[in-house]
Order: sequence, then C-alpha cells, then structure tokens
Amino acid sequence: MQTKEDIHRALRQIVAQVKAHLRFQKGLGINTLLSHQETKPLLTLDAIRREIGDCTRCELHEGRNSVVFGEGNPHAVLVFVGEAPGREEDLQGKPFVGKAGELLTRIIKAIDLTREEVYIANIVKCRPPQNRDPKPDEIRTCLPFLRKQLETIRPRIICALGTFAAQTLLETAERISALRGRFHPYHGARLMPTYHPAFLLRNPQFKKDVWEDMKAIREEYKKG
Ligand code: URA
Ligand code: URA
Repeated sequence: MQTKEDIHRALRQIVAQVKAHLRFQKGLGINTLLSHQETKPLLTLDAIRREIGDCTRCELHEGRNSVVFGEGNPHAVLVFVGEAPGREEDLQGKPFVGKAGELLTRIIKAIDLTREEVYIANIVKCRPPQNRDPKPDEIRTCLPFLRKQLETIRPRIICALGTFAAQTLLETAERISALRGRFHPYHGARLMPTYHPAFLLRNPQFKKDVWEDMKAIREEYKKG
C-alpha cells in the first residue's frame, strides 16, 4: 500500500526530474516553455524569402527581373500553386497578375473568397525565357522552397493549377484530365488538381470542369 510518505517521495522525484530537464534545456539556450501550437511553425515566410535571397541557384536567374515568391494569407486554408511566373509576374514580382491571373482572381471570387484570404505561389519562382517549361534541374532546385512555404502555411486544401503543378506535386506522370475532379492526399492536406487558367483562356469549354473542381473545394473549405 502507498503511504502519504511514498506519494510525497514520488512527487519530489517528478519535480526534480522536471527541474533537471529544464536545466538541460536552458543549457541548450532554450529559455521559454513552448506549447505544441507555438512550436509548429519552425520557419516563417519571411525567413524562407530571406533564404532564397537574390537567388542564382539555377540558370533562370539570368533572364529574370524578380523572384516571384508568392503572396497572400500566411495562415491560408487554401493555397493555389501554378507553374512559373510569366512576363507580367516577372515585372511586378507577384504571382498571377497577368491575363491568366485575372481569370484566377475571378475563379477565387466565384467560391466566395478573395486573393487576400488565400495564398498563391508557383512551382518555380523565376520566369523561364519565352515562358518555356521549367527544366527538371530548375524544378529540383526551386521546389524545396515551395515545400517549406507549404509546411509553414499548413493549408488544409491545395489547388494545383495545370498539368505541371499537379504532376510535380503529386510526383506522377498521369494526365491532368485523369487527375482532376477529386482530392489527392498531399502531406496531410487535400490536393485538388484542375486545369490552368491560361489553358482555360484558350479552351473555354473546360470551364465547366474547373467549376466542378472549385465547388468541391468550396465544400471542403466550409468544413473547416
Ligand atoms: N502562370 C502561372 O503558372 N503562374 C503565374 O504566376 C502566372 C501565370
Ligand atoms: N494542359 C496543361 O498544360 N494544363 C492544363 O491545365 C490542361 C492541359
């Protein structure tokens, strides 16, 4: 049977262990107790942007004006990922601000959100010359930064815009027409691939498919 004495001794041991643990942490330079919530974002978007700096890690830096990092709500529930900056984006330093961007803005409004409420980024952050497809080594070099952005924002929903973003994030060679229309698991988030707004401008007959995908996103968004 445990006596009062035993219980006191056990409590003293626990207190001593906690103290010893805190002394150990203090030795590591940790002076505050952090809750799980507070320890989650190890990085900030600003820190990731600073790490990228005036990047020369791939050849795309040669022709670019701006590193188009991404913009929007750092706590966004929904993140849109495109392919790469185009001419307007490169000049303004912001994602999706050209013709395709205007359509994306309308698509976001159609699901009762604004650009400020979501976050918008691209697979690669510098404009490829003549808007050619980014090369595998350019993607390999740039993608870790987008991954860090997504780990920091921790969106519940990701919308991959177009073949390129969908195939890169899902690490598949499946066609966008086969990938779209349903959510795919992505590091704890739900990822919806859909057609790229630039593709829609040339092929408006696919707008109804995008609208289906957006309605699914709107439903998922409302669950939160
Ligand atoms: N197309 C993209 O994929 N991204 C942009 O930022 C603009 C156009
Ligand atoms: N091809 C693309 O590259 N993107 C689309 O969204 C559709 C077809």
